[in-house]
Amino acid sequence: MSSAAQALEGAAGKYAADAIRQDGQGDKSGAAASYQRAIDALEKLIQLFPENTLNPVYEQHCEQYKKRISELHLPSDSFSQNGNNHGNSDHGSSGQTASNSNLENMIIKEKPNVSWKEVIGLEDVKIALRESIVYPAKKPELFTLGWPRGILLYGPPGCGKTMLAAATASEINGYFINVDAASMMSKWLGDAEKNVSQLFHMARDSSKKENVPVIMLIDEVDSLLGNSQNENGGEIRVKNQFLTEMDGVNDKGKNLQTYVIAATNKPWKLDWAFLRRFSKRIYIPLPSLETRQNLFSSYLSKLKKDSSVEAPQLAQLIDGYSASDIRDICQSVQLSVIDEFFSEAESKGNPDLTHVQLRDITMDDFKKTIKRRRPSVSPGMIQEYSNWTRDFSAA
Ligand SMILES: Nc1ncnc2c1ncn2[C@@H]1O[C@H](COP(=O)(O)OP(=O)(O)O)[C@@H](O)[C@H]1O
Ligand SMILES: [Mg+2]
Repeated sequence: MSSAAQALEGAAGKYAADAIRQDGQGDKSGAAASYQRAIDALEKLIQLFPENTLNPVYEQHCEQYKKRISELHLPSDSFSQNGNNHGNSDHGSSGQTASNSNLENMIIKEKPNVSWKEVIGLEDVKIALRESIVYPAKKPELFTLGWPRGILLYGPPGCGKTMLAAATASEINGYFINVDAASMMSKWLGDAEKNVSQLFHMARDSSKKENVPVIMLIDEVDSLLGNSQNENGGEIRVKNQFLTEMDGVNDKGKNLQTYVIAATNKPWKLDWAFLRRFSKRIYIPLPSLETRQNLFSSYLSKLKKDSSVEAPQLAQLIDGYSASDIRDICQSVQLSVIDEFFSEAESKGNPDLTHVQLRDITMDDFKKTIKRRRPSVSPGMIQEYSNWTRDFSAA
């Protein structure tokens, strides 16, 4: 059984993917309905888990989906869907503007509020990010030989890739542009190539105009490369455009404060042309024993529990689980005790909840929940990551 948070996150993702697919196929009413379902799931998620660090991101997603829904209700020539009408007439230039704002709706640009300290463990990775982003952003003149602009973070899901990228941006007080490559590909199918260049343009512009560094996170970057079985011409062009833009970023010298962080759970899908542009490649592994313990300590500090519940023991029990698995386990244990609280009040015919007490969480509660939940990453996958790391890591 998965926790409520996981189920909602999964549902929102599924609805959003449906919406994007329907949108791409021109099914406006279907797309609008699916965007709305995604919004409902995300809003529920935010409401139930107000402490989740990713809530600002979810909120921005909701905003984008709402904007898109209102666009879908406009007459069809007031925005461009396939980009065929750009560049020649009045009609073309209005299409361009609309498409630009479409692009802006798709991506999230923010000053993130996740701090370096909130990312637990991963000390080596933080050092690497300090050296390749934080120091150059603070004192570019020291780096007379330049520094890497393209950084690849790879590893199993739920271990902090997105969080680290956001925290790095907040550490240098820069903008964080979060692009999901998978939805970029499906949403802009046919137009993706041009949008890749607009995206980079926008990153450079924000950085120059406001004189702040910009960190662009391209999540699920492997989807830009398509999959080789059904790679069509469009995907090859998008990939080439992306590589050209990366060359631009890498060549610009110290005036350019734009950093591209690519994240993937499937590094083996990336080809050499791509890897060459990402000269720093950093593995984000599953949490170590010590990190699991610290993750538990941090979540346990917010739970009402008895003295049987101890972080070191819990950390031992869950070798092989990701950081977000640990968060979900803690949430799900808490939810089950809260469920009991409400059912008890109900069975006592006590709707105003007086005389019922939320009971303490015990070690047994944890053990039961852990037994029901497999780690979200298999040992086989971990082996694949370490093989790939042996061959391609560049820290
Ligand atoms: N190292 C970590 N320290 C603290 N929390 C973490 C860490 N890694 C993951 N989490 C939790 O899991 C959630 C998902 O992590 P995320 O950064 O999206 O993982 P990834 O991008 O690697 O899939 C985060 O919002 C956070 O709650
Ligand atoms: Mg992520």
